[in-house]
Amino acid sequence: MRKIYLVGFMGCGKSAIGRRLSYFLRLPYYDMDHEIVRQQGMSIPEIFEEYGEAHFRALETEFLLNFRDEACIIATGGGVAMNEDNRKIMRRSGLVFFLDATFEDIYVRIKNDKNRPIVQRSTKQELEQLYQARRKFYRATGHIRVLTEGRTLRQIVEYIGFQVNRLKTE
Ligand code: S3P
Repeated sequence: MRKIYLVGFMGCGKSAIGRRLSYFLRLPYYDMDHEIVRQQGMSIPEIFEEYGEAHFRALETEFLLNFRDEACIIATGGGVAMNEDNRKIMRRSGLVFFLDATFEDIYVRIKNDKNRPIVQRSTKQELEQLYQARRKFYRATGHIRVLTEGRTLRQIVEYIGFQVNRLKTE
């Protein structure tokens, strides 16, 4: 079986859904940001600060290219789908779900987060512009778009699980 990737803007629920989906489908779960932090021995703000965002982006592509070949669930970072190579790697090595949340839902979740350098350096208006600008890339990456507004985590997980099982048996 292929990998299952979760893509979408910061705070759309990739990690929370990924963890629950892992129980639901009995597949291992990995959070790309955590894996990069572990490999580098530095936090994301530290990587941004010390080596710059471009370096972090290169680490993301390296991760996608080299990560072990096993059926698993991967929560990607919110910027991963902006890169064409990344989009190709994900679409060809797995099934990609775009978690489509509203900006208002997202903003409530991320506004006080000190561990997200992009949130730290941006105003609400700038974040909303980034959200709007990135949506088309998330849409282009996802095989399946999942609207999260008004749905519980459980409903979202069951929906994704259903789609995975449906496509597996097709
Ligand atoms: C980023 C999102 C973050 C993390 C980094 C950059 C982005 O991941 O990779 O702070 O560019 O949107 P989450 O989407 O898990 O917050």
